[in-house]
Amino acid sequence: MSEVILDIRNMNVALGPHLAVKDVNYQIHAGEILGIVGESGCGKSLTSLAIMGLLDNKLNLSGEILFQGENLVGMSEAHYQRVRGEGIGMIFQEPMTALNPVVTVGEQVAEMFLVHENVSKAEAMNRAIEMLKQVHIPFAEKRAKAYPHELSGGMRQRVMIAMALACKPKVLIADEPTTALDVTVQAQVLDLLEELRETTGTAIQFISHSLGVVSQISDRVMVMYAGQVVELADVNDIFDNPQHPYTQALLDTIPRVGVDIERLPAIPGSVPPLDQRGENYTFRDRCPDLFNHYQQVAKERNLGIRSK
Ligand SMILES: Nc1ncnc2c1ncn2[C@@H]1O[C@H](COP(=O)(O)OP(=O)(O)OP(=O)(O)O)[C@@H](O)[C@H]1O
Ligand SMILES: [Mg+2]
Repeated sequence: MSEVILDIRNMNVALGPHLAVKDVNYQIHAGEILGIVGESGCGKSLTSLAIMGLLDNKLNLSGEILFQGENLVGMSEAHYQRVRGEGIGMIFQEPMTALNPVVTVGEQVAEMFLVHENVSKAEAMNRAIEMLKQVHIPFAEKRAKAYPHELSGGMRQRVMIAMALACKPKVLIADEPTTALDVTVQAQVLDLLEELRETTGTAIQFISHSLGVVSQISDRVMVMYAGQVVELADVNDIFDNPQHPYTQALLDTIPRVGVDIERLPAIPGSVPPLDQRGENYTFRDRCPDLFNHYQQVAKERNLGIRSK
């Protein structure tokens, strides 16, 4: 496999005595798309914000985040500003809060060039319009003059992608970039991200609570439950041979051709808040019967007793 570009080692994010992210380890290789999946509250966004150096002050980060071999944990803000944008770009979960409502989208993309590259205002705006074209925003010159609220959700998401990719980062973190969009627009944004990976070689950390969405775009998939990585494997292995009961439970919530819709099970309950997880809380504590059932299924599959 290609060179490791981002190497997360023993990452913990603590809120007082509670761990929201617990001993997380993974790597992203140049040009790959790594999907991160898990229900709400599993720590997907905190893992991403930690990488970007944007965690809330009350949260405590430990471990190592090696970007091209350099540890970002504890790095000065000035240094970090250079890493953001040029090294690692991020598309945030809420485009409306991440975009400035009183600045045109063209100016917001142009700002990326003004901050990170030594260019004139006019040149920055030209580059911004080029970026808007690259993410397939029609009538880019005209749309550049629009304010965020004047654009549809899908177009706003494209503006966010343009901003994140403006300075050609090596890694793009996309935090639920399609969750607020309808399925057709969702598919267009996924296609765009894949196209950009092909043309720019950017590696992508793609986050979603939906394993169905993640599987459409990812090379490998990392499954998180309550702050921990429970499984990390090639996307085909996740589907054909899931090892962890939580992965299997998520898989069974995806509608599939030939499966009776009425029998599609939802996972009972939800991920508890941090202060109600107990010290060694796992998925087994939430659904002991389901956990044992799926563990048995995986065991039998590994022994070749079950085909799927
Ligand atoms: N700033 C914060 N202060 C305190 N607790 C937080 C903060 N941000 C997140 N948490 C808690 O940490 C846990 C993980 O949150 P995170 O936002 O990473 O989840 P997520 O997997 O991104 O969920 P979602 O799918 O809803 O976006 C949750 O229990 C959440 O309530
Ligand atoms: Mg989130």
